[in-house]
Amino acid sequence: MNPKPASDATESQRIVERARDVIPGGAQTGLRAQAYDTGDVAFERAKGATLTTVDDEQYTDYHLGFGPIILGHAHDSVDDAARRAIDGGVLYGAGTAPLEVEVAERLVETLPSVEQVNFCNSGSEATYHAIRLARAATGSEKILKFEGCYHGWHDYVDVSVYPPEEGLGEQYPESAGMLRSAVENTLVVPFNDSAAVEAVFREHGDDLAGVILEPVPHSVGCLLPDHDFLQHLRELTDDADVPLIFDEVITGFRHSPHGAQGEFGITPDLTCVAKALGNGYPVAAVGGREDLLSQAGGDNKSGVVISGTYSGNLPGLAAARETIDTIVEEDVQNHVTDLGDEYRAGLRDLLTDHGIEGRVVGHRSIFSLQFGVTGEPKNYEDVLGLDEGTFREFAAGMRERGHFFTPNPYKRHHLSFAHGEEQLEAYLDDADAVLATL
Ligand SMILES: Cc1ncc(COP(=O)(O)O)c(C=O)c1O
Repeated sequence: MNPKPASDATESQRIVERARDVIPGGAQTGLRAQAYDTGDVAFERAKGATLTTVDDEQYTDYHLGFGPIILGHAHDSVDDAARRAIDGGVLYGAGTAPLEVEVAERLVETLPSVEQVNFCNSGSEATYHAIRLARAATGSEKILKFEGCYHGWHDYVDVSVYPPEEGLGEQYPESAGMLRSAVENTLVVPFNDSAAVEAVFREHGDDLAGVILEPVPHSVGCLLPDHDFLQHLRELTDDADVPLIFDEVITGFRHSPHGAQGEFGITPDLTCVAKALGNGYPVAAVGGREDLLSQAGGDNKSGVVISGTYSGNLPGLAAARETIDTIVEEDVQNHVTDLGDEYRAGLRDLLTDHGIEGRVVGHRSIFSLQFGVTGEPKNYEDVLGLDEGTFREFAAGMRERGHFFTPNPYKRHHLSFAHGEEQLEAYLDDADAVLATL
């Protein structure tokens, strides 16, 4: 048992102390527990851009649940749609529900690569399914991924996401307990490095089942892809008949309803979407070329098994349909992109004014402030040298002033349709004050 909290402890501290007894680390994931680096916190409400703790402290939320909340927390029309779905029963688990068809049709309409879709509940499931489809189609086992890209927690891909410097260029398992053969079959090269990709194709071309990437790797803040790099990947994979998999779990519906594939004009063979697809509801999908997806359509004896009791649950799908429609009809991306530009420009000016070494990276509604590093990062190695301690101090100072984001310096701020000029002004004023103390 942990020691009893002091009698003057806040309600947040009491709850986190209780949590530490019954939940490993006191939070559902190690990344969530990092919020405690700036003080134990238990949230119990969220609306629009505001997150409220059990002690009734309010924060402007830049974490947004690690990115799904694109329209704002507890969005009225999304929640109404989910409630209506709940009234009709949350899960049938047999046959087809009309909502499945409606959301699948929207994905086919908006995402250039998508001809058919299977639903699931998380990004990790989507990347797992995509890789299984790719392995089945090619009869090969090896997957190529990029350092700094995260594709979920499963053994196929949880390799070299945040390797330490001495692990660069290695197949670095991110977790204890992973299957050695899975790690060995996951090849890794630096992002934006076409020569390294070519070398893998020369050495392993016949054994490659797929190439998977975040088209804009946001798992390490933001690495922007060189257009030539994406183009080259497309050509190499086409020539070798190896499926190209875009993990658009962050970029899909947050950056554009057409995904990064629409934005950069590169069409992959398979696409994974989750997060902003449902504005926070658990809904995800793997989509892509019909010949690849249809491997999952037959009886489970001859084809690919894609399964899941909760796949296609009705509240998730109802939320997805309403989120997609709202994003498209209300031109959400223009709002969050313009706002993102203002935050980035404001923060850059502040770094200059305060003479602090650092950079502001990001794309559209996402940005990260990275201390101690300059220049545009092209790959994971370019992010490695950032000053973690200063970012944590910044995060703590901002939290004291009512702005919440994870103190993990490799992560990112997100904006939603509920954020606007009021939040921008308050953030920049307070960032000015906090940067002056660093
Ligand atoms: C790019 C990317 N892919 C996959 C995942 C895994 O998604 P989930 O956490 O829903 O399993 C994440 C989660 O952060 C992600 O950022």
